[in-house]
Amino acid sequence: MKRAQFIKIVGAGTVACACGQLVSCSSNTTNPTRATVDFKLDLTLSANSALNSDGGSVSSQGIIVVRISAGNFVALSQACTHQGTPVVFQRASNNFFCSNHGSTFSLSGEVTKGPAVSALRRFNTELTGTSLRVFS
Ligand code: FES
Repeated sequence: MKRAQFIKIVGAGTVACACGQLVSCSSNTTNPTRATVDFKLDLTLSANSALNSDGGSVSSQGIIVVRISAGNFVALSQACTHQGTPVVFQRASNNFFCSNHGSTFSLSGEVTKGPAVSALRRFNTELTGTSLRVFS
């Protein structure tokens, strides 16, 4: 193999690996199934004001966060485990509902009605003043 041919092959492989890394990093920024989640919601912002009332919810980074009561929040991956439709919180029944095929999930993310069979991923929450941290 000539030197120029070797460099061309190795160079192409390096670029392919680098692109693969970039795609992985990029997809991780919006995929709540990634291993590590850690972000904060400023409850003084109008975009997050729903979290100042019981039953209010906010979606961020593929995670739905609900205020159950003062200082008590639930954060779950929002994509239904059946086919990925975003679930919504239903205050009257205190569960999460997928409008696509009707699956429901408990506050802990467990399936309470199919066709979904897998639980929604649950995340930790920590309120400090007006800052709500959501983390895995
Ligand atoms: S996508 Fe949610 S029940 Fe089918």
